Amino acid sequence: MITEKTLFAQHVEKGLSASSKFLSSMYFYDKKGEGLFRQIMNLDEYYLTNCELEILMFQGHEIAHLLSDEHLEIIELGAGDGIKTKELLRHFPKDSTVYRPIDISEQAIIDISKKMSDWIPNLKVEGICGDYFKMLDNLKSNNKKVILFLGSNLGNMNDEQAKGFIQQLNLVMQKGDQLLLGLDLIKPKNIVLPAYNDSKGITSEFNLNLLDRINKELGGDFDRTQFEHVAIYNENEGIAKSYIKSKIDQTVSILENDTSFHFKKGELIHTEISRKYDLDIIRNIIDNTSLHLDHQFTDHKQYFTNLILTKH
Ligand SMILES: C[S@@+](CC[C@H](N)C(=O)[O-])C[C@H]1O[C@@H](n2cnc3c(N)ncnc32)[C@H](O)[C@@H]1O
Repeated sequence: MITEKTLFAQHVEKGLSASSKFLSSMYFYDKKGEGLFRQIMNLDEYYLTNCELEILMFQGHEIAHLLSDEHLEIIELGAGDGIKTKELLRHFPKDSTVYRPIDISEQAIIDISKKMSDWIPNLKVEGICGDYFKMLDNLKSNNKKVILFLGSNLGNMNDEQAKGFIQQLNLVMQKGDQLLLGLDLIKPKNIVLPAYNDSKGITSEFNLNLLDRINKELGGDFDRTQFEHVAIYNENEGIAKSYIKSKIDQTVSILENDTSFHFKKGELIHTEISRKYDLDIIRNIIDNTSLHLDHQFTDHKQYFTNLILTKH
């Protein structure tokens, strides 16, 4: 059987031997990475969390009303800590709603299952640990489904990947099922960039933790003091990108698959994209699906949006 460790090692080998080096942001979330992401969510500069929280706190009742049904399965992809989600879930009837958070992090699933049951007693919670890309087919059922994909997680995919992913969701959804998408809106660089390069250096720590994770789990010998975090935002395309940059010429070895990789001074490892949206971009992404954009909610600054899409 292929283990998570083998998959991680294969990914690292593929990413670091490519001509433009890359590592997937999916691997940010080990225990330390999760803790760091929670700190990021509390930063003033990381406006995304507060904006979406504001929408769900103040308009959650109306959103829940538009999503409700007699028997409802609410499936959350990449659920994280659930702090925002509880503001929505508290408006659904407890006896006829099942909440299924999916996350690749086992700890996140253990924590959210416990906390959500404490926050909303009597809500049925069935946490699932795994990669949501691989488990969409398991989500088919006869009850009405609402899929939550919050926190602008879609923005970690390029538009082609996002299109493919939404098409996959469209296939597992039945007529009347709904998708609640949380998306960060396009806005100026002076607002967006600090969210990915904060003054306390927590986003930098979060990005570089990937190297620590490779050292710890795969026997790598990255000297993280010889690498640095770089974030850029291209206002015209509306995409923030994060990289890890090698400060010197150096070679790094990884015991797990007996490999070594050379880094030139200034060479970049691409680790994350964070796409920002407007309605035209999202309409292009849902094109060729039977999903209709029915409702849009925004925070008072109009930085962030939650969209309800219904399968017709
Ligand atoms: C940016 S956080 C967002 C959490 C939450 N949705 C929010 O809005 O606050 C991303 C979450 O998705 C999880 N994740 C990332 N890639 C995943 C994948 N392929 N399958 C399942 N979970 C994933 C991470 O473990 C993390 O908890």
